[in-house]
Amino acid sequence: MKTTKKKSKMNIGYKPAGQFEETRFEKIHNVIFKDSNEGSIRVAQEIAELIKEKQAKNETCVLGLATGSSPIKVYEELVRMHKEDGLSFSNVVTFNLDEYLPMDKDNLQSYWYFMHEHLFNHVDIPAENINIPDGKIGSEDAIEYCLGYDQKIKKFGGLDFQLLGIGRTGHIGFNEPGSHYNSGTRIITLDHITRVDAAPAFLGIGNVPRKAITMGIATVRSAKRIVLLGWGNNKASIIKETVEGRVSSEVPATYLQEHGNVTFVLDNGAGSELTRNKTPWLVESCEWTKQLTAKAVVWLCEKTNKSILSLTDKDYNNNGMSDLLTLEDSYDLNIRMFNKLQHTITGWPGGKPNADDSNRPERAEPAKKRVIIFSPHPDDDVISMGGTFDRLVEQGHDVHVAYQTSGNIAVSDSEALKFAEICNNMNPTKKSGKLIEDILDKGENAFDSVEVRELKGAIRRGESHAATRYLDLPDENVHFLDLPFYETGTIKKKNLSEDDITIMYDFINEIKPHQIYAAGDLADPHGTHKVCLDAVFESMKRLKPEPFMKDCWLWLYRGAWHEWDINDIEMAVPMSPGQVMKKRMAIFFHQSQKDGVMFQGDDAREFWMRVEERNRDTAQRYHALGLADYAAMEAFVRYKFD
Ligand code: F6R
Repeated sequence: MKTTKKKSKMNIGYKPAGQFEETRFEKIHNVIFKDSNEGSIRVAQEIAELIKEKQAKNETCVLGLATGSSPIKVYEELVRMHKEDGLSFSNVVTFNLDEYLPMDKDNLQSYWYFMHEHLFNHVDIPAENINIPDGKIGSEDAIEYCLGYDQKIKKFGGLDFQLLGIGRTGHIGFNEPGSHYNSGTRIITLDHITRVDAAPAFLGIGNVPRKAITMGIATVRSAKRIVLLGWGNNKASIIKETVEGRVSSEVPATYLQEHGNVTFVLDNGAGSELTRNKTPWLVESCEWTKQLTAKAVVWLCEKTNKSILSLTDKDYNNNGMSDLLTLEDSYDLNIRMFNKLQHTITGWPGGKPNADDSNRPERAEPAKKRVIIFSPHPDDDVISMGGTFDRLVEQGHDVHVAYQTSGNIAVSDSEALKFAEICNNMNPTKKSGKLIEDILDKGENAFDSVEVRELKGAIRRGESHAATRYLDLPDENVHFLDLPFYETGTIKKKNLSEDDITIMYDFINEIKPHQIYAAGDLADPHGTHKVCLDAVFESMKRLKPEPFMKDCWLWLYRGAWHEWDINDIEMAVPMSPGQVMKKRMAIFFHQSQKDGVMFQGDDAREFWMRVEERNRDTAQRYHALGLADYAAMEAFVRYKFD
């Protein structure tokens, strides 16, 4: 295997001024865009330019294409260019990276279906120019078929452009860890993590195929140009490993370090672990903004295992932060940073009445605030901010909880059957009989009937009411918005529409809140939490001219998976051991989401366990920085509109 590093031919169009500096840590050219939308549009433009360039020369343009959530927006933009700007695909030949095995073309989870739904059905590509590995190939024909796939690519002169996503295992295509540098198209066994990531789409890991057919590493490497897309925080660590780590079959994407013309197109989340972003002071001299200073001081404490007030000049100097001390001596800096953190802690999330609020996260006035807690699913409220929720109610604020989606898809059939049978036993009706029949007759991968979806939604409503009553919230303050984008009956949701925004707009306008809490999960650009957050942003933007909006603050909490970085936290609400128990009980009411929930992810712990550990960890980290020792803490960041 070759290990020399070739110099990347940088594509000038991807180098917005100041955005890419090659550092001694990085081995792959990468560009970070503001968000996945911007990055995707830029990539679509490169593809379109290539297609047109080839068209002008009467040549075929050979594209290697990927599926998954990463390229969706690229395809959307290419379709837009076809429809609005006349971009033609008549000279395009495509080869897809992979397909599950076994898999029927018309199965909703097939990559064949995906590609037609997102691209091919909407552009003028001739059907015979489309190549997607055959998910029905039998093992006796597989070797010949795979060799044929690679040969066909060669026959067309090779791939002019290869679009890639990256899996959390570091796979490109379905080349899982262990894949050889010289591998060609072949059948592969999927890694467990890959199957876990695919489980939601297949409604459970048991339905995810164990095998796939994938272009090999050598096939991918043979492309003249490669662009890999990475969106969201959950890709950050694998992106760092790929860009900064050593070439290894354990992370097949690192093979791309050997390619001379590859660019990683990332958003802030996916690029956040790269050394130049995470600890820029180790890379170059920095402009010490307030934010960067706070980040560096917290990092330094964790690195040296010291509290803020124990940091010395030597600690700063030995860790690439000496220039920070030219602005301020370490004694003053330490005290300033300590106070900054201290001021984020409050037991009064709605503001402390009659208190000086100049150093508190929230305003003292009005003493009684109107509060909306937006919860994407019917349980995020108690999971993510159950302690704060409890305090807000206890401290007399007018709290409203609004569940943005019905959450019906996350209720298992066996749970729904239990309720249907109870209804039927108590009072047999045509409807209860049909519910039982629909659930029992549902085939693998099939959708729920409208009635079963209704029942599943009702189960989650009942659980939510049990939890909010336990926290003493009157039923009339509990709202179920059932945003339409969610109601597809499948994991794939519709785009946010005017109907969703109108529901959100009218609701906020009716309550006229002083505080809004919302789930600030930006990790998954296509996930429900992100869509729910976009709905909050858009409706608040439109409400901006309303007088009440001048006094309306938006606080973001994080869902079950991650917590804010300590240096970003603007309000930390401590919890006593008793409050931790109370929060746990409130989560327990969400019975359908306990014990092996459908969308568990790769973390086997239940939600209450994960979140307790997370809240305890936040408290411990504050304590390690030299602040008071609390049992647990919930954390928030205030979102300020421009
Ligand atoms: C898809 C493919 C995979 C995905 C990767 C990331 O054709 O080959 O390598 O690109 O699993 O998937 P998403 O984009 O869904 O995060």
